[in-house]
Amino acid sequence: MHIQKALKNAQAILKSACYVRESAGFGLDYPRITLESELLLCFVLQKERVFLHAHSEDALSPNELRRFFQLIWRRFHAEPIEYITKHVSFYGRDFFIQHGALIPRCESEILIQKTQELIIHHEITQIAEVGIGSGALSITLLLHNPQLRIFATDISKEALEVARENIQRFSLGRAILLFCGEFLEPLIQRNLPIPELIIANLPYIPNGTKLPSPLGYEPQTALFGGTRGIEAIEELLRVCKKHGVKFVVCEMGFDQKALIQEIVKPLGYKKLEFYKDLSNHDRGFVLCFE
Ligand SMILES: C[S@@+](CC[C@H](N)C(=O)[O-])C[C@H]1O[C@@H](n2cnc3c(N)ncnc32)[C@H](O)[C@@H]1O
Repeated sequence: MHIQKALKNAQAILKSACYVRESAGFGLDYPRITLESELLLCFVLQKERVFLHAHSEDALSPNELRRFFQLIWRRFHAEPIEYITKHVSFYGRDFFIQHGALIPRCESEILIQKTQELIIHHEITQIAEVGIGSGALSITLLLHNPQLRIFATDISKEALEVARENIQRFSLGRAILLFCGEFLEPLIQRNLPIPELIIANLPYIPNGTKLPSPLGYEPQTALFGGTRGIEAIEELLRVCKKHGVKFVVCEMGFDQKALIQEIVKPLGYKKLEFYKDLSNHDRGFVLCFE
């Protein structure tokens, strides 16, 4: 089968999956189907997309065809393309990703911008990320601020493995220290100084929420944040307050603004500022304790 025909067949398969999922509210549109089928074939052939167009009449070997359609069927079953190709783009850079770590989302690029403003304005040299996942956020901040030293924690060994791989790929081994454990516990136990700025994109979906199938492929410990969803964020803020942290930049669910206001009130703080994502949904906050 030649390239053009293989792509057409693959697109028909993905399109049929879309009809099923569209009714559930998370289908792919046609340009995305074209793009994804091409990206998966490029992944199999280890070529750029332009190759497919210049060689559309080239025949694929039986092995290439088999591998390509294996990937198309994985995508048909809603597995995110990032887990299939093992890479994800974040803030204009390519990161390694695999099952066990959450796929970093473009919404988190705003968290980077908010953190960046604080780092510059307050000349911050040490920060901590709680729940580092793939490492994309910390690595991006470090590449923009080479003077930074980052302490990062995560409860998931699988996520820490992905972060470690990315840190190695960007040759940042000395600047980001990884610890397995909850919140800031690993730093507290080792008597390490708690940085004045903490960033976090902790799980915030209420336990038991029915999720669309692609999210079923992501680690559930990265998604569910407790009965109301905000328990993990609530505990982080309590720990930060107790240990004299000055600033917290944190993501939250689009409908959690009032809950966040409610949980910070008893803690006492100087300033709380919410920010929106590109779809104009509330997405996170910057909290100044002092
Ligand atoms: C939503 S993911 C975010 C990952 C990454 N920061 C990102 O934005 O792509 C949340 C991460 O927090 C970790 N996590 C959940 N609860 C935690 C806790 N109590 N302490 C530290 N990490 C936690 C999860 O394992 C997961 O890797």
